[in-house]
Amino acid sequence: MPINYQQVYTKGATETGPFQRECAERYEIIKPLLDRFQRRFSVFDLGANLGYFTIRLQDELDCFTVGVDKMRGPIRDILRQNSPKSMVWLGKHLSALDISHLADCEQFDVGLALNIFHHYETDSLKALMAYKRLCRFMILEICPPDGDTGAKYPHTHRAIYEAVTNDPHAELIAETRSHLKGNPPRYIYLIDNGITGFLSQQTFDARERCPHRSQCQTWMPVDGEPTIEIAKLEKRIDKVFEEPFVPGINLWNMILLNYTWPSQNWLEHEFEMILEAVPHDDPLPWNWIYDGKLHAIDNGYKIKIKKFPCDALRLFRHGAEELWN
Ligand SMILES: C[S@@+](CC[C@H](N)C(=O)[O-])C[C@H]1O[C@@H](n2cnc3c(N)ncnc32)[C@H](O)[C@@H]1O
Repeated sequence: MPINYQQVYTKGATETGPFQRECAERYEIIKPLLDRFQRRFSVFDLGANLGYFTIRLQDELDCFTVGVDKMRGPIRDILRQNSPKSMVWLGKHLSALDISHLADCEQFDVGLALNIFHHYETDSLKALMAYKRLCRFMILEICPPDGDTGAKYPHTHRAIYEAVTNDPHAELIAETRSHLKGNPPRYIYLIDNGITGFLSQQTFDARERCPHRSQCQTWMPVDGEPTIEIAKLEKRIDKVFEEPFVPGINLWNMILLNYTWPSQNWLEHEFEMILEAVPHDDPLPWNWIYDGKLHAIDNGYKIKIKKFPCDALRLFRHGAEELWN
């Protein structure tokens, strides 16, 4: 059986079993960087592997986390054992283009990108640039430019290293031990991408589903509540307003991107309950944000169009296929 890459975190403890790459020491480097948040915040963990950081961060800090990994296997049991309350897991291979499309419709406070961009064989810089649009603070762990020969796609290492170190906002935080014998250390960098983000699409699939001109600006200070300024121009709705921005993920995006945590049964029950409790003039899944709980967005603007909870539940259950029926 292959040895786990990450250590396993279960119910407040780091397990002692075999692993390739230690996580507990890296966690101690990363956690203090997040102390700057004086409010609940969101974390996106690209290539989250066994969820060590994704699960532990939401356990210990007031944050909501999203872990993404293409790999199946032990993560299923690890999630069941931990039963994380403030977390989403996406079982998905995210291409560089996917990250770019996600950045058009979502914003996260923190982006973990630990040992991931060199897994993008041909478009690692495109993935990195898109990730910068998706996340306000990025915490990266990268290979040195040369000599990390056992790591994936060594031909990408120098370009990634230069793109990170040439960023005027990049700050070297630590050198870490490589798990590959005799290989040089890796580097942890922090990049502050600034307080604002721009959204041009409602969801990951909005280009095809509901093309309209949409412009939103997010403001994500670390010491105050985040807001979104919406300037939408379309036939039915003409609105320009500002409202709180919930650090979470759009429910429809979770469905499109193959969420495997929380469980579908549990989330469906939550959705049914909130559909009953909160009247919404357009309750379809793209008008809800999940951060451990469901929050309504874009409510109270539609006078003529009426969608009903049963439409919302049908879409929730059947996903994108339902749109074409
Ligand atoms: C080297 S491991 C790093 C794990 C973790 N970030 C860490 O440093 O402890 C890379 C992980 O990224 C995942 N991965 C690679 N390319 C991916 C992609 N395009 N989409 C989603 N996951 C990916 C792999 O399955 C693997 O679990």
